[in-house]
Parts: sequence; structure tokens; C-alpha cells
Amino acid sequence: MFITQSKTAGISRPFLPDDLFTAIEELKQELNAVILAHYYQEPDIQDIADYIGDSLGLSQQAAATDADVIVFAGVHFMAETAKILNPNKLVLLPDLDAGCSLADSCPPDEFAAFKAAHPNHFVVSYINCSAAIKALSDIICTSSNSVKIVNQIPEDRPIIFAPDKNLGRYVMEQTGRDLVLWEGACLVHELFSEKKIVQLKIEHPEAEIIAHPECEPQVLRHADYIGSTTALLKYCQQSQSEAFIVATEPGIIHQMQKDAPHKQFIPAPALNNCACNECPHMRLNTLEKLYLAMKNRQPEITLTEDTRVAALKPIQRMLEMS
Ligand code: 13P
Ligand code: SF4
Repeated sequence: MFITQSKTAGISRPFLPDDLFTAIEELKQELNAVILAHYYQEPDIQDIADYIGDSLGLSQQAAATDADVIVFAGVHFMAETAKILNPNKLVLLPDLDAGCSLADSCPPDEFAAFKAAHPNHFVVSYINCSAAIKALSDIICTSSNSVKIVNQIPEDRPIIFAPDKNLGRYVMEQTGRDLVLWEGACLVHELFSEKKIVQLKIEHPEAEIIAHPECEPQVLRHADYIGSTTALLKYCQQSQSEAFIVATEPGIIHQMQKDAPHKQFIPAPALNNCACNECPHMRLNTLEKLYLAMKNRQPEITLTEDTRVAALKPIQRMLEMS
């Protein structure tokens, strides 16, 4: 079932209701749908979501939901994880092109060869990877449980950590384990400028620097606190500080500001002249596209059953060990 298109000067435009919030609420009831959103989504999407969280929280919600339809306001690997956990549910992603530079930095054929070159290694993959990479992994981790997961692997077992070298280096520091790293990275978190962050700290000496572990070591070494998006949010609520320099995608500042309206949140500046550091993939989703996805029941996430079953095992292992 597709909705009517209106035609203006030969250009087809989808017909959108005036009040998208009400229309989405109605579709939610009609479809028995749940809307799961990542903190890097635009504020309107965060405000209409049933649950907003980090990658671990979102996969836990996806594993637990009894909704018939999961509308995933995030990027492809997140919606794919929801589908792996829920093969019989319809999983919708508002924009199917919402990918991830980090996931793209690890092509499955190259990773299979890397794995073959390191026999007997236990493969820990960060959830920011494709289903094909998950299928090649022994366990999945997220930024909030990576240290805990690696600490549970027997000490005599060598470990491959993929695909994020920055998170991998951070985990090495925290666990004292020697990890074989895949050289991938996130384009957003590699954009932060150490020099500009230090300058900002001089201008705001009272502000604490908080950072996501996907940032480069030269940024992380200035951080007062390092954590996943959920951990950063909690830290800002609990800290006595009144100001924070936030080194992660600035979409999260919407929730930080809602939870602590009296505090000041300053986005960490990028290397280039754009101070936004918005994830171009996350921002492909819009409230309009979310409405259209629910109305049209597409774009839908699909997977071959072989890949799904192989990718499920390391995700389930993570959920048990988190
Ligand atoms: P978390 O929300 O798990 O901290 O991950 C951040 C991220 O980069 C998601 O793409
Ligand atoms: Fe991928 Fe980085 Fe965007 Fe997260 S912020 S979705 S890791 S590109």
C-alpha cells in the first residue's frame, strides 16, 4: 500500500499530513509499532521515540519488544541488529542509505582474510559493523560493554578487535590486554581537533571534557570522562559541574539539555571550519521519512537466513555477558 503523490511541475512529492507527530502516533497504534531512536537522531525524532538509547540499550530493547513492527531511527547496522534478533518482525529504517563510515571500513572479504591470518584468535567485533562481519565474530560488544566483555575472555586467548581502532586502543588501555586491531575508524569522531578542544578548555576552565571512546587518543587524553552516549548522558546528570565540552555527535546534546536545562553543553569543535560534527548517515533520517516508512511499510531491512543465524550467536553471547 503506497500513499498518494502530489505532482508539481513534473516533480512527484509524497503527500504529508500537517501534523506529523499525531499522524505517527496513529500509525504506531495501527501497526502495533515501537519507535527506537539513537541519541544522534534529530530532536523531533528523539521526541517521538518510545525509547532513545545507545547501541547496547537499543539492542536490548529490540530483543525484548513485543511490538509487531520496529521502526529503527538510527543507522543500518542498528536496524540490522534488530532484524537479526527479530526475524519475524517488520523492521523499518526511514532511509535505507543511512549507513556508517566505521561499518564500511571493514569489508567482509578483507576481514575474513585478516581473520585467517590470525588463527586461534577470539574475534570481538564492535556492534558498528555489518551482519556479515558479525557472522565472522565470536562476540559483539558496544562502547558501553567493550571493557567488560574483553575482561571475560580467558587471558591466554589472543584477541582480534574490529573494526574501530580507537575504541580498540581504549580497551587495550583499560584491560591491559594486547589486541590485534582492525584499522577502522568513525569519520565523525576522528574530526575533533585536539588543539581547538584545548583552546575551548582555556576559555571555559570550569567545563569538564567528556568524550566518546571512538575519538582519537590525542582527544581522549584530555577527557575528564570517557563513555558511551548513555554513559555520557548519565555522567552529565550526576556531575557537580555546570558546563561540559562534549566530544561526540552533537545530537546527544538535545537529551543532555532536557535532563539538565540549567547546565551548559558546548559541542567540541572539528578540525575543519564546520563546528557541527553531525553524523551525515544518522542525519539522513528525518521525521518525514519516518512517517513515510510507517505509512508505506518500507524501506524494510532484509537478510539471508544463513547470515542472520550466524550473526545472531555473537549478539546473544554479548547480551548474556553484558
Ligand atoms: P553508542 O551510542 O553505543 O555510544 O555508539 C555511538 C555511535 O557511534 C553509534 O553509531
Ligand atoms: Fe557510524 Fe560514526 Fe555515524 Fe556512529 S557516528 S553511525 S560510528 S559514522
